[in-house]
Amino acid sequence: MLFKKLLWASAIASCALLHPLAQAGAPKVPDPWLRPVAVPFPPDNAPNADRINLGKSLFFDPRLSGSGFLSCASCHSPGLGWSDGLPTGIGHEFKRLGRATPTILNSVYQPLLMWDGRKPNLEAQALGPIESAGEMNMPLDELPKKLSAIPGYPPMFEKAYPGEGLTKETIGKAIASFERTIVSTEAPFDRWRKGSKKAISESAQRGFDLFQNKAMCSKCHQGFNFTDNGFHNIGVTSLGEKEDEGRFAHRKVKILKGAFKTPTLRDIDLTAPYMHTGQYKTLEEVVDHYDRGGDVKTNLSPNIQPLNLTEQEKKDLVAFMKSLTGPAMRVEFPRLPPN
Ligand code: HEC
Ligand code: HEC
Repeated sequence: MLFKKLLWASAIASCALLHPLAQAGAPKVPDPWLRPVAVPFPPDNAPNADRINLGKSLFFDPRLSGSGFLSCASCHSPGLGWSDGLPTGIGHEFKRLGRATPTILNSVYQPLLMWDGRKPNLEAQALGPIESAGEMNMPLDELPKKLSAIPGYPPMFEKAYPGEGLTKETIGKAIASFERTIVSTEAPFDRWRKGSKKAISESAQRGFDLFQNKAMCSKCHQGFNFTDNGFHNIGVTSLGEKEDEGRFAHRKVKILKGAFKTPTLRDIDLTAPYMHTGQYKTLEEVVDHYDRGGDVKTNLSPNIQPLNLTEQEKKDLVAFMKSLTGPAMRVEFPRLPPN
């Protein structure tokens, strides 16, 4: 017990040391609105360069799909904020998917993945779209054989996961290792938090105040990743005739009916259109949604109410959200092992 406490104390102390605000007289507790330096990972999949490289190849490789045509990056494109710019995704044989493609930015920090939280971690998630008939349509039992026939891959797997083989498990682990590197960069908002007073406009500063107070956004969009990692019904109209029950399909608790995961707002300017339905083209339209207190009132979260925002206040909220977009990560397209 004491040992555990000591470990905690030293972990907190070393975090504080790494933190830029740790100098003279600044608070010892890390700023909750700034991204922690470290990313979490499971004990059997510590990231290293070989694993990340392999995962990157797999992420960009269309040969992971049945048609040989779709890769993870087809829908999670680095040029489009790791999403696809579409209202809802387009999968195998150009079929439309039922929900919008979320960004994978900072998904490493999320305890539950997907709009309805049905996946517990990146390793498990990665195998889902490969096998899904609507997405990459590649049976997982056949994929290791297909990749083993590409001469470059077996040695890459052996280097990354010595003795573990080229299996669906190591495919999932490698892709997850690459995804753990896709984290938000320092946005103007972060520079402002670190003390650079002019890094964001006065309008954006007022927007952050509204975000936390009058507009109540931070009831759900909290902390550096601007999400409570929770599920809420914010009154979004379902696509099509059948109601999308969201989280309720996996946990039968009434408040979860029509509830979806609170998305990150990092780089939000890059990932329009918005919501699991992709129904709003602009951040202005999103703010209007909240201002009118949502559309569908059945089972609505108590934190969604008409806000009576002025036109200026709406502009301020949008200016604040735009200050959350950091400079682009440098992503070099990998050279894939030839057939
Ligand atoms: C055809 C488009 C498409 C392809 C290909 C695709 N995805 Fe996705 N991805 C989606 C959609 C749509 C969702 C959300 C589905 C849902 O929540 O029901 C999603 C969700 C995710 C999430 C969860 C993000 C979050 O915020 O919860 C991760 C991580 C992810 N995909 C990674 C991958 C990886 C890795 C691959 C390749 C193995 C991949 N995707 C291939 C469309 C795609
Ligand atoms: C009750 C919790 C809650 C509150 C309060 C809340 N949000 Fe959200 N927000 C969510 C959830 C959940 C979603 C996803 C809903 C969906 O797709 O059905 C979301 C989606 C969004 C999106 C779209 C993100 C994307 O990637 O599609 C933006 C932008 C956003 N919220 C901004 C705000 C702003 C600005 C406020 C305050 C005016 C706010 N939110 C208040 C929970 C909340």
